[in-house]
Amino acid sequence: MEKKIALLGSTGSIGKQTLEVIEALGHDYRVVALTAGSSDRLLAEQVKRFNPELAVLTDHEAAERLRKKIGENGSVVESGDQGQIMAATWPTADLVVMAQVGFSGFRPLVAALKDGKMIALANKESLVIGGSILKRMGLLDREKILPVDSEHSAIWQCLEGSDPKTVARIYLTASGGPFYGRKREDLNLVTPDQALQHPNWQMGKKITIDSATMMNKGLEVIEAKWLFDLSLDQIEVIIHRQSIVHSMVEYIDGSILAQMGVADMRLPIQHALTYPDRKISRVENFNPFGKKLDFFPPDRDNFPCLDLAYRAAYLGGTMPAVLNGANEVAVAAFIENRIKFTAIPQVIEEVMDGHLNIDSPGLEDVVSADQWSRHKAAGVIDQQTGRMS
Ligand SMILES: NC(=O)c1ccc[n+]([C@@H]2O[C@H](COP(=O)([O-])OP(=O)(O)OC[C@H]3O[C@@H](n4cnc5c(N)ncnc54)[C@H](OP(=O)(O)O)[C@@H]3O)[C@@H](O)[C@H]2O)c1
Repeated sequence: MEKKIALLGSTGSIGKQTLEVIEALGHDYRVVALTAGSSDRLLAEQVKRFNPELAVLTDHEAAERLRKKIGENGSVVESGDQGQIMAATWPTADLVVMAQVGFSGFRPLVAALKDGKMIALANKESLVIGGSILKRMGLLDREKILPVDSEHSAIWQCLEGSDPKTVARIYLTASGGPFYGRKREDLNLVTPDQALQHPNWQMGKKITIDSATMMNKGLEVIEAKWLFDLSLDQIEVIIHRQSIVHSMVEYIDGSILAQMGVADMRLPIQHALTYPDRKISRVENFNPFGKKLDFFPPDRDNFPCLDLAYRAAYLGGTMPAVLNGANEVAVAAFIENRIKFTAIPQVIEEVMDGHLNIDSPGLEDVVSADQWSRHKAAGVIDQQTGRMS
């Protein structure tokens, strides 16, 4: 039977690779909705190629341009946050792929879960922000949220068929990013261009910087906590430069299961799309001969973002949303060359220190915490750069 896909964030790195996988899978998969933020030109090309029922751009003016480009008889075009929610709950969609970046994924994820949709989740930030609320609302159904993040896909595959009570811990592998082994004095001088060169993965800008600071792994720790219902003490981060082992599960009898393969996001994307089946993919085969596997503990002193994420996760409440909001603002400021690489964790820490945590927040508390955090982070950055906020 044909599987119908709504793809949110189709113009990004994960979005484009998802469309590649869908094309390679052939006629059993059909795109029914595509969305992006403001990239009208690329979305128009994708609409022409995949002919979805719905196309959405959050930016209203860009949506107007898209409407003109695709004409009267093409897909329905919507705009704004409501448009994204419409795509996340599109009636004909069997699977909603969430590949937007940052906070923009949060409300669509909540809407899709409330609507009972099956989700392939790349947008880790939305679980970081809202994991505790979604759990309280009874919406964190492991059968409904299929991970796309390579580490979580690995854990998911290693957990298949096992009793959750027999899991001792999981190891989330991290490449360490482009600055692995560097010290703080040295990190002070790195440029956005250098930080955007990831050794093993081609990704969007925000996640590439998050990988360089190790915040990406911190966000993934929180994501794993909610996806697999684990305590934070059961989640171990481990540096693995080769990115061959995508993560591991240790069981109570001491046995460890690892998932391995080439570092290619099309693999976990395809697994989420075809689950519970497996299909032939266009990804190159992994050649194990001559390969080495090394594992090291993370350098928490020179890469403090990891511990900031653990701190936010232990505190819970609105703190993870604050961590995420401050991080998004600090990363954007670093990419714009407004702050140094080492200022990213400083900004986040100052914002977290100033936050009055709400222990059992509602949805709107989390949205307010996100907005507060962004405003506060902008103020801290303005102070650092010598401007008035
Ligand atoms: N890239 C990877 O290899 C990878 C791996 C694992 C997990 N992830 C996760 O997957 C997510 C996407 O990452 P990415 O690397 O694909 O990011 P990306 O290349 O920056 O793409 C982001 C996508 O989100 C859209 N977007 C931006 N702002 C939006 C808004 N306000 N409303 C709706 N859509 C908006 C963008 O549209 P425009 O083009 O119009 O801006 C684009 O389609 C992130 O959460 C990331 O952590 C990525």
